[in-house]
Amino acid sequence: MPRPESRPPICDYEGSTYRSDFWEGKGRGYEDRVERIALRRLLPKQGRRLLELGAGFGRLTSEYDAFDQVVLVDYSLSQLRYAQDKLGTSGRYIYVAADAYQLPFRAGVFDAATVVRVIHHIADVGAALRELRRVLVPSAALILEYANKRNLKALYRYSRGQQTWNPHDLQPVEFVELNFDFHPAYMRQQLRDAGFTTRRSVPVSFFRLPGLKERVPTPILAGLDGLLQLTGLHYAPSVFTQNVAVGTSPNNLETSALFVCPETGEELKQQGTTLLCPSTGRRWAIRDGIYDFKAPLDE
Ligand SMILES: C[S@@+](CC[C@H](N)C(=O)[O-])C[C@H]1O[C@@H](n2cnc3c(N)ncnc32)[C@H](O)[C@@H]1O
Repeated sequence: MPRPESRPPICDYEGSTYRSDFWEGKGRGYEDRVERIALRRLLPKQGRRLLELGAGFGRLTSEYDAFDQVVLVDYSLSQLRYAQDKLGTSGRYIYVAADAYQLPFRAGVFDAATVVRVIHHIADVGAALRELRRVLVPSAALILEYANKRNLKALYRYSRGQQTWNPHDLQPVEFVELNFDFHPAYMRQQLRDAGFTTRRSVPVSFFRLPGLKERVPTPILAGLDGLLQLTGLHYAPSVFTQNVAVGTSPNNLETSALFVCPETGEELKQQGTTLLCPSTGRRWAIRDGIYDFKAPLDE
């Protein structure tokens, strides 16, 4: 499987200050809390190996304790280094720098995956979802969060002529380069086309309003959001979906040889701190415990 000439562009977080500039001390305790409520509602109660796609600095990884192993994938090595500092190198966590469109894994090695605050950076949603489906076993759970274009603020602004794009239009809106909001019906169709059935869909983060968050204590606001999550009112800015992988596909859950060459799909041979692709001779680095599939060593 040769590497496609033109891959979709990637929203690059390499060296970004996402952790300190967006989360730490930035008044987003409410968002963090309601996302954890939704995840706890939707995650399987136990499992073998979970893929956290776009894991970033591992903000949510502590939610996956019911799994024997967690594989954190992110395109940014620096985000993964933060995650590694926090979570350690026990072997329970595997850190992989790779592109969501070209995952370096054998088919069917995960029985669950989570994708939170990531798909809004993905220009080709169908391609990323098909790649996710490839690495999951049949009946695996996919918990996928997306930014909802049909949210209350967008509806209000559109009704007042303050916003050009129509929140009811099914196509994604790219409001800033490589930042997309999606319509619930569009996302459901994309999931279906990629081999998933959506079992539950939960609107999250209704009170993402700075003035309100300053006045009302976070536990109260988060508790109310937790109740609204049960209403099915899909007008919140974020939606968490619980999906199941359907159809027949390989099951390699018991293998410990997870990695294949992202370019050829061939099994890799470990040589010290590199992984070698036998047919192309390309080598991929393992840097201080992080598998780096962003680019081969010889490029
Ligand atoms: C907004 S952060 C979310 C991080 C984490 N999921 C969270 O909720 O805290 C988005 C993450 O997606 C990663 N990302 C974006 N595009 C990617 C791609 N094509 N492949 C792998 N990771 C990607 C970025 O590097 C970044 O760490």
